[in-house]
Amino acid sequence: MIAADASAGRTHLFSPVTVAQATGLGLAPMAVLPAHQNKGSGAAGAGRAGLLHATWLGFVVVLGEPEYYGRFGFVRASNYGLDNEYGADEAFMALELKAGSLPPAGGLVRYAPEFALVG
Ligand SMILES: CC(C)(COP(=O)(O)OP(=O)(O)OC[C@H]1O[C@@H](n2cnc3c(N)ncnc32)[C@H](O)[C@@H]1OP(=O)(O)O)[C@@H](O)C(=O)NCCC(=O)NCCS
Repeated sequence: MIAADASAGRTHLFSPVTVAQATGLGLAPMAVLPAHQNKGSGAAGAGRAGLLHATWLGFVVVLGEPEYYGRFGFVRASNYGLDNEYGADEAFMALELKAGSLPPAGGLVRYAPEFALVG
């Protein structure tokens, strides 16, 4: 799923991820056109306010800049026992929007095969 907001100069891509029996969304990549940067456009895409429009959504993972995504409540995915297929360490982060949506034992988060094509 690609979400684009032309007026905000932002495009971000969500793709489904699974861990154990749970399904969530992977956010990445996200890009804001230079002329629109530092105006809150990225925050509108990655922040809870934007994500919570998807009321069915339990959790989101992201491969990105920890300093940036930490602003929105993302924490190291390893805190939840989550691993990834890309060898990312602190850049792999998770945000649990609904408590209990992530499996208590964690596990390997698998992206859809198509994700590798845009990485
Ligand atoms: C990263 C990006 C999406 C941020 O979008 P944005 O709309 O400019 O960001 P916002 O307006 O929401 O936030 C701006 C704040 O984030 C900070 N910030 C921007 N990029 C950052 C980064 N890579 N790491 C840490 N902080 C960052 C800015 O310094 C600014 O800080 P301030 O509020 O203290 O002044 C945008 O800069 C971009 O497209 N960069 C190139 C592509 C990229 O790196 N994408 C991320 C990979 S998933």
